[in-house]
Amino acid sequence: MSAVASHGNGTTPEPLVEARGLSVGFGSQPVVRGIDLRVGAGEVVLLLGPNGAGKTTTLLCLAGEYRPMGGEVSVLGVEPRTPLHRRARQGLAFVTEERSIFRSLSTADNLRAGDVSIEAALELFPELEKRLSVRAGLLSGGEQQMLTLARALSRKPRLLLADELSLGLGPLVVKRLLDAVARVAKESGMGVLLVEQHVRKALRYADRGYVMRQGEIVLEGSANRLHERIGEVEDSYLAGAENRLITTHVGDQRGGAETGTASPGASG
Ligand SMILES: Nc1ncnc2c1ncn2[C@@H]1O[C@H](COP(=O)(O)OP(=O)(O)O)[C@@H](O)[C@H]1O
Ligand SMILES: [Mg+2]
Repeated sequence: MSAVASHGNGTTPEPLVEARGLSVGFGSQPVVRGIDLRVGAGEVVLLLGPNGAGKTTTLLCLAGEYRPMGGEVSVLGVEPRTPLHRRARQGLAFVTEERSIFRSLSTADNLRAGDVSIEAALELFPELEKRLSVRAGLLSGGEQQMLTLARALSRKPRLLLADELSLGLGPLVVKRLLDAVARVAKESGMGVLLVEQHVRKALRYADRGYVMRQGEIVLEGSANRLHERIGEVEDSYLAGAENRLITTHVGDQRGGAETGTASPGASG
């Protein structure tokens, strides 16, 4: 959607995330290798791919937790150098499958502790209203994640990085969470980079997406294009899993098994 793609003067605003040739790794081996990535204001962008592809590493680098090994990266106009907790004030929110709540406090107190208006939270998730006085530890997983998201979104971040926020939750809850994320993006211009295993569902809410495999982006495009090529997208997960089995114990002895993009199943 290009509702926020241009200013009044017709110029394209600076992207919220811009990575060029970004490599990230641990020790000497990059696990994210030379990726180009962009998230604009108001965009919901998916980062897809099998386990071990490098999605979380990418997000943590964008959040300022890992330094790039190579390439350039700019997040909210600056190179992400300060750790996440300091970047929240600059408009960055990070949500993972781990629920970011105080389990012994009530739902309402969780919102107060996060300096979040209860009205704003209920507007996003009306289902929390009857749970306001319940201890957060007693909420269902889906309710806990709604609370997490309400806390994150009510601070009006300019950029949301979401790493498998719906992991282990039922389909209706997944829909509610993605609905809320996409709605806030469209209404407030927040940009979203979303790692999500519910690929088909997530494509319905996304503008664009990237598919990663073994540290590289192997496919990208509009949500429509990725939906048209859903077979290829899903194959990349299988190919990733096969390659992981093959390469898990290879270590630094990579032998003849070149693990670039030429792997079974998903090429061409
Ligand atoms: N802190 C770390 N130290 C060493 N290797 C790591 C670390 N975090 C992730 N990795 C490795 O980097 C690769 C990518 O991991 P990750 O980014 O978590 O993938 P994804 O989120 O796509 O499942 C994996 O091979 C993983 O084992
Ligand atoms: Mg991950």
